[in-house]
Amino acid sequence: MSETRTSGGLVGWIDDRFPMTKMWREHVSEYYAPKNFNFWYYFGSLALLTLVIQVVTGIFLTMNYVPSDARAFQSVEYIMRDVQWGWLIRYIHTTGASAFFIVVYLHMFRALLYGSHQKPRELLWLFGCLIFLALMAEAFMGYMLPWGQMSYWGAQVIISLFGTIPYIGPDLAQWIRGDFVVSEITLNRFFALHVVAVPLVIIFLVVAHILALHEVGSNNPDGVDIKKNKDENGVPKDGIPFHPYYTVKDLVGVGVYFILFSVIVFYLPEFFGMFIEAPNFEKANPQVTPDHIAPVWYFAAFYAMLRGVPDAFGGVVVMGTAVLILFVLPWLDRGKVRSIRYRGLSYKVALTLFALSFVLLTYLGTQPPTTVYTMLARLGTVVYFGFFVFLFIYTAFGLEKTKPVPERVTS
Ligand code: HEM
Repeated sequence: MSETRTSGGLVGWIDDRFPMTKMWREHVSEYYAPKNFNFWYYFGSLALLTLVIQVVTGIFLTMNYVPSDARAFQSVEYIMRDVQWGWLIRYIHTTGASAFFIVVYLHMFRALLYGSHQKPRELLWLFGCLIFLALMAEAFMGYMLPWGQMSYWGAQVIISLFGTIPYIGPDLAQWIRGDFVVSEITLNRFFALHVVAVPLVIIFLVVAHILALHEVGSNNPDGVDIKKNKDENGVPKDGIPFHPYYTVKDLVGVGVYFILFSVIVFYLPEFFGMFIEAPNFEKANPQVTPDHIAPVWYFAAFYAMLRGVPDAFGGVVVMGTAVLILFVLPWLDRGKVRSIRYRGLSYKVALTLFALSFVLLTYLGTQPPTTVYTMLARLGTVVYFGFFVFLFIYTAFGLEKTKPVPERVTS
């Protein structure tokens, strides 16, 4: 008999054979989360919800989509015009892609606000960074599937970046494409990866992410370790059970999210050409390059960094480093204090500039380059990397003037 058996009937029968009630308790009804979660703590559950939305709508899109040069574009038109509710499923999926990045960027920013990347949550942060990488790969490959002009030329540009790597570059680019140019062969493999392989990786990483979170416990807006103050039953005094308290709170976030999501799906599905770009209403044509090839907004900041560097391979290195530097953040940040509430002015100013530079770079990456824009992109890139470099300098050398951190959370 299982020790966790609490009831008879079906639940008891299952508990004797599978740790259902045990898992529910450990991860939901007896997972004690700090009682001072705020607005910024909505985005983890919203990311999870978006993942579910993308998987479900993706399955239905796959039922009518055909990954071939002759039929991919038409099959998407067919989904939009002839498949029952096909337009709705596709618009939810395209809106979901952008929503995913909005939610994940805010979720990552929250970690920077409250020092959630710091010890003991380094591995949790690393799983997050891997999710971010996988998400970028997933979005990039998904974008190719409608086989429109921007799908084709976007893929052409991004894959050719691999070609700039010395020695192995050209062979690597050809290996990725499976052909000398982007072709149906590329489309087929991107379809397989987008529909099966990468979603599996993302789901696995999200499970690891949440297990790592529950192992160390959630951080909070004060950055206080709630496990240091426990009552006689071993329950953190500043903790409340995730269910029902945060399931109810998260439902409010879900409600607001669904309202905003629906407004976009039903009234602004292309979102001013940012969620679905105009050239993608034309079928891929290897003979004609669009006037202005720009990535979707969520990649634009990294693209602006790439374009800011005159040398192609140098640009690739800068762009790659901009993503990879996130992985070492927990070791660059030597600060003794987690939350921005008690950190020094240096961190507050640096984080504000970092966020502004990212928004500026995002804007610049969607625009055709001009001399002024290129200079601004370079400035933004310096500020972006400056955040990490200065963070290391002023925390490693004890230059940060912090405020005293309270013993208990301040609600
Ligand atoms: C599919 C994408 C993701 C999902 C579904 C997801 C899910 C979650 C959930 C449910 C939580 C707990 C609730 C919360 O703290 O908001 C969480 C916490 C966290 N996530 Fe993610 N996450 C994702 C991506 C990321 C990324 C890209 C990063 C960073 C690179 C990241 C870093 C963190 C950190 C540091 C925490 C702990 C926050 C704290 O306790 O203060 N996550 N995540």
